[in-house]
Amino acid sequence: MTADQLPAPAPAASRAGAGADPADAAGPDGRVPLHRPGLEPPALAAGTVPGHVACVMDGNGRWANARGLPRTEGHRVGEATMMDVIAGAVEIGVEELSVYAFSTENWRRSPAEVRFLMGFTRTVLRAQTDDLLEWGVRVRWVGREPRLWKSVLSEVRRSERITAGNERMVLNMCLNYGGRAEIADAARAIALDVEAGRLKASAVNDKTVQRYLYAPTMRDVDLFIRTGGEQRTSNFLMWSSAYAELYFSDLPWPEFDRTELWRACQAYAHRDRRFGGAVDAVAGQ
Ligand code: IPE
Ligand code: IPE
Ligand code: MG
Repeated sequence: MTADQLPAPAPAASRAGAGADPADAAGPDGRVPLHRPGLEPPALAAGTVPGHVACVMDGNGRWANARGLPRTEGHRVGEATMMDVIAGAVEIGVEELSVYAFSTENWRRSPAEVRFLMGFTRTVLRAQTDDLLEWGVRVRWVGREPRLWKSVLSEVRRSERITAGNERMVLNMCLNYGGRAEIADAARAIALDVEAGRLKASAVNDKTVQRYLYAPTMRDVDLFIRTGGEQRTSNFLMWSSAYAELYFSDLPWPEFDRTELWRACQAYAHRDRRFGGAVDAVAGQ
């Protein structure tokens, strides 16, 4: 069954009319509620909820430009989408959610956009940590330190400290994250440990590499979602997504929401994951 054939989740209240504002996910106080009245996650068969969902939150800039707005307005509206998707992930029972907020390649953007993204990330973390705490979400920064603004790093560290006791869902904030950088950093650390005699070169295997990743306890990604219409992974969680199910949405991130996340989860629940294995199932027998 394809995503197109699946029953659509109940429409978001904010989508009821044409031209509804995606920022409606937030109430008048600017906060997104954990539960949105009238919206229930679909009931998925036991064991078919993806444990780890990764989101490439793409399409902000094009969404804004198409409306005659600067790219930064797309990022601004994307904040409410992110909170709505986090809430929807908690509601449906996802245990780990990774969001790609800034890649190691995003430094190539204009200095003004980079400055905006750094400052905005800091503001979002400051504004949303209390709600994340209340929702049972534990924040974890995933990325590399060089170049990342010190003030952003200390803000995400603050969110980590505040939410450290939460157990309902882990939120990996991937900030200054790149999949190749992560694997290269792990390879360098492994080589240094081998050189120092702390590790035997002949004992290095995939479990060793996992231990040297930015977040060694990160579980494998089950469902990898990218919004914005592009069908590529753009260097996100290369190691952990080796066997992830890929789901591409044409909606720009500001128009995505928890019901779209649930639609992706429904599609995931019907995927046949084989991990390289195979079963003989001859037709007609
Ligand atoms: C993704 O949206 C957000 C970040 C990279 C931070 P984009 O800014 O890439 O928006 P598009 O893809 O150019 O529309
Ligand atoms: C991926 O989107 C990075 C984030 C969403 C943070 P990009 O917009 O940077 O990726 P490309 O350039 O389209 O591959
Ligand atoms: Mg993009």
